Amino acid sequence: MKRLFLAAIALLCVAQLSAENYEITTKNTTLLLRASEGRRVEFVYYGPKVNKIDEVFNTSSQIGWNAYPCFGTNCTCEHALAVTHANGDVSLELVTYEVKQYTDPDGGRVWEFLLKDKVFPFYVKQFYKAYDDCDIIKTWTELSHTEKKDVMLNKFASAYIPVKSGDIYLNYLAGGWGAEAQLFEERLLPGRKTIGNHDGARTSFGGNPSFMISLDGPAKENEGNVLGGTLSYTGNYDLSFVKNGNANHLEIVAGINPELSQYYLQPKEVFTTPEFIFTYSTEGKGGISRNLHRWARNYHIIGGKEPRDILLNSWEGVYFRVNQEGMNQMMQGFAEIGGELFVMDDGWFGDKYPRDNGESSLGDWVVCEKKLPEGIGALIDEAERNNLKFGIWIEPEMTNTKSELYEKHPDWVLRQPDREPSKGRGGTQLVLDMCNPKVQDHVFNVVDNLMQENPRIYYMKWDANMSISNASSLYLPKDRQSHLYIEYHRGLMDVCKRIREKYPKLVIQLCASGGGRLNYGYFPYFNECWSSDNTDAVQRLYIQHGMSHFYPANIMAAHVSASPNHQTGRVVPIKFRFDVAMTGRLGMEMKPSALSAKEKEFAKRAIETYKSIRPVIQQGDLYRLVSPYEKKPYVSLMYNTPEKDRAVFFLFRRHYINDEWEEPRKMAGLDPERNYLIREINAENPEKKLAIEGKVVSGRFLMENGIRLSLGKDLSSVVLELIAQ
Ligand code: GLA
Repeated sequence: MKRLFLAAIALLCVAQLSAENYEITTKNTTLLLRASEGRRVEFVYYGPKVNKIDEVFNTSSQIGWNAYPCFGTNCTCEHALAVTHANGDVSLELVTYEVKQYTDPDGGRVWEFLLKDKVFPFYVKQFYKAYDDCDIIKTWTELSHTEKKDVMLNKFASAYIPVKSGDIYLNYLAGGWGAEAQLFEERLLPGRKTIGNHDGARTSFGGNPSFMISLDGPAKENEGNVLGGTLSYTGNYDLSFVKNGNANHLEIVAGINPELSQYYLQPKEVFTTPEFIFTYSTEGKGGISRNLHRWARNYHIIGGKEPRDILLNSWEGVYFRVNQEGMNQMMQGFAEIGGELFVMDDGWFGDKYPRDNGESSLGDWVVCEKKLPEGIGALIDEAERNNLKFGIWIEPEMTNTKSELYEKHPDWVLRQPDREPSKGRGGTQLVLDMCNPKVQDHVFNVVDNLMQENPRIYYMKWDANMSISNASSLYLPKDRQSHLYIEYHRGLMDVCKRIREKYPKLVIQLCASGGGRLNYGYFPYFNECWSSDNTDAVQRLYIQHGMSHFYPANIMAAHVSASPNHQTGRVVPIKFRFDVAMTGRLGMEMKPSALSAKEKEFAKRAIETYKSIRPVIQQGDLYRLVSPYEKKPYVSLMYNTPEKDRAVFFLFRRHYINDEWEEPRKMAGLDPERNYLIREINAENPEKKLAIEGKVVSGRFLMENGIRLSLGKDLSSVVLELIAQ
């Protein structure tokens, strides 16, 4: 079979268009598309890499469905695009007129399919960008036209992926405040399943635009064919999985949620749909996670390869009761145990209206002189005296009716002109109208002013504690209100871009009442994510397990908090709390003075240990060994370096049942041919380590037979470091 594109070339080239197969390959996968001049682009195959594409056809593995189906012409399947033309016609029939291929200087090879409607001057560019080293493909489209008047976009998905039917199981995340990223699995039967959100602002509460489908029965961790995908979009989304009883195919359509978001596309305007990222693995769910993690760290997350600091956040320590002395004490206590960064959370601002609770002050980003008479500079001085970096909390897209900002600009909030707006936290919170360029400037200035006045600020926690519950903009024209959800996020992204152009090094945490914004759309601008306001270590085993399916450890903020835990009341030993937090980006969220002398001693050692294993955790390959959802009393996972020369293994016992029959702990992802020295790290008593301490065992034995570790107590845990010999 003739292959049009033999190799990735830096030069752009245009293919001749006779019916051609386009092989979009990565190290281990092939996506095969077929296009020819005057005909549609067909989605032929996506799966494990094929050496000879004849094999696809010889084994009836080809699909051959439209790769971007449109409503109105011979499309009884799902559609990715539906429009109303200027003259009222609702049909589209896209055909290819050109194909381009080039290498992106930022990494990845790009294929561009240029399509045009057969009748109307309506154009679609469909992009596929392949990242070889991590088996990731991104796809998105650009929509435009030269009709006489606006064309209404009724549906405008980023991606359409047909899948040959099998015994398909869908894995996805759902949850809400304090219980984010809960993992669900269900068998896909004929019918429609949707993962969607129309919260407007905190779109990862309720769901997450990410999924895995296991193609041969319930998903396994390290074996089996799995296809995974995630939509990189901060606004409302809709991912539909449609299995039509007759057709024997599963159709996946992913994109912006078109509900109440019809978009009037002006002549020559280009509408770019968000990127949909997908990957395929024969190594089960774990393979999908590792592909996504590698891609995210290497190509997507700002500063994704840089080590993340161990921080202490003031929130659960003092809540709104911020003052200089309290902050100083926390900084000093944290410095004593080896911390690196101190973050002052909510409660520091508001001059006319001091921020003493959730009822006031959002928008008034000036220091509360009553609480901090010497200002932010004095806090940074104290941080630096303690050899700590300094960070600060903001919630810049919001205001309270009790604030100077609202008094000055009551028209800057999202609200209907003729209704009393529905309010959020404190009974006074409102969302600012990010569609309005003046509001965009205000939000940019929140960051810019703080940085201008205090250039030594190293980190910001950017929170968003409200949904869009008044879906109306006083800025947008009356007949363009359906653009609100889209324009809000365009405005927000524009501000983020401006901030990043001016402050590329500032570390910014993404927070929305916890993990309410966990979404790849944010990560070109945000370095990490506050996983949840629920800091109970046992609950975090679930939340972090769910997150880890799609997002890497270096964005997963995991903090050790007080015991009994403030959310659940559970009493958890300090070692267990630290060990759970050490599986992500370690931090603390309590007054160090609340630690006993013994706990403080342990915390100091744990922080030192984390510094030594940080590269393995934050940049390593994750292997989930025992899920918290299994009916077992323990949970286990490990991180390995890509070179497989170092690994860190974690075992958590949630509750004690009966030790005698315990299974061996089998590891994964090691080199079977190498021997590993095993060391117990973060031991409760460094003088009294497990019997396995110092033993050398082959990777093969560790993976095939496993080791026997006895953990006698409720909420006990073990961390082992493995070093290849
Ligand atoms: C949200 C965040 C918390 C904290 C508070 C402050 O709930 O998730 O971590 O910052 O706001 O008000």
